[in-house]
Amino acid sequence: MVILIFLHMARTFFFGAYKYPRELNWIIGVVLLVLTFVMSLTGYLLPFDQRSLWATIVASNITGNGPLVGPYMADFLRGGAEFGATTLSRFYAIHMLLIPGLIIALIGAHLYLVARLGTTAPPWIAAKSDNGMRSERV
Ligand code: HEM
Repeated sequence: MVILIFLHMARTFFFGAYKYPRELNWIIGVVLLVLTFVMSLTGYLLPFDQRSLWATIVASNITGNGPLVGPYMADFLRGGAEFGATTLSRFYAIHMLLIPGLIIALIGAHLYLVARLGTTAPPWIAAKSDNGMRSERV
């Protein structure tokens, strides 16, 4: 999913599909990208073996070192001051309920905007004007 999302993002970027009137769809896309990363992070802990446990402890320590809100965010992620069973159920709830719900809602909005605005033509397709002459791409 991460690879496909980057391919999709590159396609929309190189086709200039982020420009007016599709700015909002680009912004929704960026939020979808961040949510996909949150899915990766929360999903990684779920096997709860040594590798996933220590990798997630490192991630929560990095979060905890962030300025101002870092310690609060780390406490929120861990479900308390200590890393333990509560952390696992919290990551599970975030991974299978919270983020999928947000992703489904945002994909709905994303596709609604695509249906409303249409897709951007590839740069190599020049628009035809009324008199049949090829003109600037619109
Ligand atoms: C869960 C992730 C995503 C899904 C399922 C998704 C799905 C889609 C689909 C089906 C389309 C219409 C077909 C197309 O133009 O390719 C579309 C268009 C678009 N997407 Fe996404 N997208 C996602 C993430 C993103 C991201 C990360 C960005 C950019 C940051 C983005 C920006 C756009 C834009 C600007 C369009 C309009 C394209 C155009 O006008 O041709 N999307 N998206």
